[in-house]
Parts: sequence; structure tokens; C-alpha cells
Amino acid sequence: MTRGLYVLNVIPRRTEVTESAPVDPTSTEGWKKLDSIAAGFTPDLRGWFDSDPGRAEQYTFQAADLTVDLSKGLVTDEVVAALLQVAKDTGVAERFQAMLAGEHINVTEDRAVLHTALRRPKATEGLVPAAPLTVDGQDVDADVHATLDKVYGFAEQVRSGAWTGVTGKRIETVVNIGIGGSDLGPVMVYEALKPYVQPGLEARFVSNIDPADIYEKTADLDPETTLFIVASKTFGTLETLTNARLARQWLWERLGLTDAADDEKKNAVAKHFVAVSTALDKVEAFGIDPENAFGFWDWVGGRYSVDSAIGTSVVIAIGKENWEQFLAGFHAIDEHVRTTPLEQNVPVLMGLLNVWYTNFLGAQSHAVLPYTQYLHRFAAYLQQLTMESNGKRVRWDGSPVTTETGEVFWGEPGTNGQHAFYQLIHQGTRLIPADFITVANPARPLKDETGDGKGVAPGTDVHTLFLANFFAQTKALAFGKSADEVRAEGTTDEGIVAARTFPGNKPTTSIIAPELTPSVLGQLIALYEHIVFTEGTIWGIDSFDQWGVELGKQLALQVTPAVEGDQAALDAQDPSTKALIAKYLELRK
Ligand code: F6P
Repeated sequence: MTRGLYVLNVIPRRTEVTESAPVDPTSTEGWKKLDSIAAGFTPDLRGWFDSDPGRAEQYTFQAADLTVDLSKGLVTDEVVAALLQVAKDTGVAERFQAMLAGEHINVTEDRAVLHTALRRPKATEGLVPAAPLTVDGQDVDADVHATLDKVYGFAEQVRSGAWTGVTGKRIETVVNIGIGGSDLGPVMVYEALKPYVQPGLEARFVSNIDPADIYEKTADLDPETTLFIVASKTFGTLETLTNARLARQWLWERLGLTDAADDEKKNAVAKHFVAVSTALDKVEAFGIDPENAFGFWDWVGGRYSVDSAIGTSVVIAIGKENWEQFLAGFHAIDEHVRTTPLEQNVPVLMGLLNVWYTNFLGAQSHAVLPYTQYLHRFAAYLQQLTMESNGKRVRWDGSPVTTETGEVFWGEPGTNGQHAFYQLIHQGTRLIPADFITVANPARPLKDETGDGKGVAPGTDVHTLFLANFFAQTKALAFGKSADEVRAEGTTDEGIVAARTFPGNKPTTSIIAPELTPSVLGQLIALYEHIVFTEGTIWGIDSFDQWGVELGKQLALQVTPAVEGDQAALDAQDPSTKALIAKYLELRK
């Protein structure tokens, strides 16, 4: 990175926008234009490519290391112009600047939204951000880097073997206990960066309150070489605290300390438990030494926290240098969004396309299809990021939304998905926009030395076969196969011709990176964070609260006495719930 980049990194202060009513997107000229385009819209990817040889080039964009091809999307210049008008009219760029500056754009919780600050580079001599970030009286840069240094120091101790368990053995397994954002991010990143994990170290992730989860994850572990990280922003989450108590119980039992003196038990906890939380007082009450706790701040949403201390398990696994590259990847995309005109701004364009598909072409879900096995948890991670953020029915001023919001995100890595659900994407009746993600260089290149005696020659690079599928699928989805093409292959029965016809015009976005480095992974995550931001801003919703998960949590606590068999509590339930709990009690041995 050059000095010049940091000089550009001035975060402009701006007037408060967050308290004002959001713009109703449906009232904008851009939206009205889109309405009229959609009314007579007949997608024709074959025709569009035939008539415009420059289409692929025109709709391919670069954001840091990510090459993003939108040309197989259902867009025309007219659509893109109207979408960009909507982005301008709803203030996407201004709200992004407000977020970077620490304004309280999380209105319903009255909080700043500053995950972008987690990856701002450290102020070092010659590379000083021109405007240090101070928000609500807090020197954000200083605090972020002080915590990072503490995490790095601890991780290095574990990696080097300087940190030992209570019996003096070095740590071999790190078990992260957390749920939602305190689990999905770390586990996804750990899986994605497996090739960077230090040999001899392993991380595991316990999240579910189903006791089977912690049982299975710890069954074969040696307590003397196991370190638990209790990761919880609030340190009040039922699942995580229950699992943390079960882990502590497991440690004492397996070390033969169940009946030991309190001091001995405490010593064991001090060497085998650390915590990550914004509530350090609660960490201490649990019995974890605050010295061994890593903090973060209420301006980091759970689903935006993977690059905070919540990633401590991954820092231990991959080390400081790789983690720094990971953060640099996020920052490169933040900079892309901040400095690139909307017309070439990749997350903004992708967010706009999603609005087009959702609000005008009737798409309800969105597939994410990574063609790299290491991203096998990416769709699960994105489900929280996108659906907890944008699954909202009121806007940030409390008024009802004026259009559909949210998309159902789902997916599996290719080629597994091809043999499962792609049928529906190719030939079903629903429109399912899909993001295809891949890397040019595999972490584990392997050759098929034997071949199959047919198309696969001996010595074939298997990644080439893999990527042939990536390219073939996006091609098939875009261009399909006409009835005439089916007939030309010799099919004569018209019923079969119909079954073998592919309509095409199924929109995809292709994302290609050189390889799945820590930096590229950070770039991919930041890309989706800002796609979510773009859509949320257009819909006028607070993408940073999550009130919708609260009711179920409250009711679980209220229902517990009934499930334990308390008759009065059982009688107080609605007839369906009462009957179900009664059935459970009858079946439970
Ligand atoms: O229940 C939803 C949620 O609040 C998520 O937003 C969050 O990531 C998760 O629970 C875990 O919360 P915590 O980190 O406070 O345990």
C-alpha cells in the first residue's frame, strides 16, 4: 500500500442523516422507470450478447483482487441507469460515509456501525491515516489496535507452546464456544483458510445448545491440551453460557478435579479458558481471568464481528501475518466502496442487481455457489449476514417498508450442488439469481494420473475439470438449450424435446480471484457486507439490529417450566403447544 492511499483516507464528517425518515424508494424517478421497464421486460441474454460484442467487457469490474462479471445478469444499460438513479436518490453513498464516520446509523439501538474500523490500518510512521477515527469520545483506531495486539500476543504464546495447560502441556486444540456471529464467522474462516493452519493445531466450534454438539466435539479431546474460547458479544446468550458451563464441567471431570478444592479448579479454568466479549464484567463473573479476555465494542454487530477479537480462534490457527492480510483484504474493499464512483462500485452494483431481481423480477431467493471446497460454510455465514440484516418489515423510522425486503440466501459448493438442486435453477419455474465464486489457483493441486480412458486424459489437472464445471454451468444458465438444438441432436418425441429444453436467461454473477488467500477471503466477506448495506439503504431499513430473534428467546425461557413438567405452566400454554409438550413428556424416557 502506498502513502498516497492513506492520505486519501480522510473520513468526512457530515450532518446527521440517521434520524430523518428514509426516502421511499418507490417514490423515486429511478424506481418508476424500473417499474415501466419491468412491465415489458423480456430477458434475452443470447440476443444481448449477439448484438453487443462488448457486453462481457462492459459489465466486468475489478474490486481489489476480485474480478466480477455481471454480464450474465438480466440487465441492460437502461436498467443499470435506473438502478443507479435509485442508489443516488436514496443516498447510498452518503449513508456509507455516515457509517464510516461513526454516525449512529443503527437507529433502533442508537449505535454507531463501525465494523469498517476493525480493519483500518495501524497508524505507523509514514503510514498514518490522515484522520484518526474518534467516535463518541473513543479513539477507535487506538482501541482496535490495542486489542489486536493483545490477541496477537496471546495467539503467539499458544502457537509457540509458551502458553500451556494446567499440567504443562502445549495446546493442540482450540474449541470456540459461540453462536450466530460468534460462531458462523470464525468457523467459516477457519474452514476457508485450512491450508494456512499451523500443523499440530486444530480448531473446533461448538454452537448448538443440543448437548450432542459439545459431546461430539469434545469426546476424543485431551483436556490437558485443549483451550476453550468463550465467544459472546453480550456474554448473556443462553446457548453459549450453557455450553461454556458444560465445557468447564468436562474439563474438571476429565482432569479429575470434580471434587478438588476451588483454587485448583480455578487454576485449571485460568489455563484452559479465555473469553471474547464486550461484557468483561460478566466474563469475570464466569470465572475467566479478565487478563485472558479480549474485548470489542457495541458498534460491532455480531454478524459483522468476524474480523474483531471474535476471530481469536482463527488468529491462533493461522497466525498474526495471515490475519493481517485478512484484515487488509476487508480494508481494500472498504476503500473500493469509498473511493469508486457508483457506476463501477462493485458491491453497490451487486446490491442494485439484487434489488432489481427481488423487487421487479420476483426473485425470492439467492444462491451462493462457491467453486472451492474451502468455502463450504460461506453460504451458511452469508445467511446470517444477509437475512438477519435485511429481513425487516419496518424502516429505520418505524414506518412500514414500501416494498419487499430481504432475500433468502442459500447454497452449497459446486459441484455438489449440481447433483442436488441445480435442476430447479435450470428448469424450474422460479427465478433464482446465483453468485458463482471461484479461484484460479487451487491450494491443493492434484492430477488424475490415470484418466478415464475417454475425455479425461492421464495427467489431467483436476482443478481444470472443476473449473470447466464452473464455466459450463454459468453458460448453461445464461444461454440454455433451445428446442431446435435438442431436435438437432436427434430427439424427435416432442414431449422429450420439451423436457430436454433449457430456457436460459437465468441470471448469474461470476466472481474470480487468483487464489483463496486470507486477503481474498477478507475481500469476499467485505463485498457481501456492503451488498447488504446497499440493499438495506435502498429499502430504508436498519440492517444492524435484529429484534426478530428476541421473541423466540423470551418464549423459550417462559416455556421451560412447562417442558420440565410443571402442570400450571403447561396449562398456561396454547392448545397446540400444550399438546406437543405433553407428547414430549410422554415420550421422554
Ligand atoms: O440471536 C441473534 C444474535 O444476537 C446474533 O445477532 C449474534 O450474532 C448471536 O445472537 C450471538 O450473540 P452473542 O455473541 O452476544 O452471544
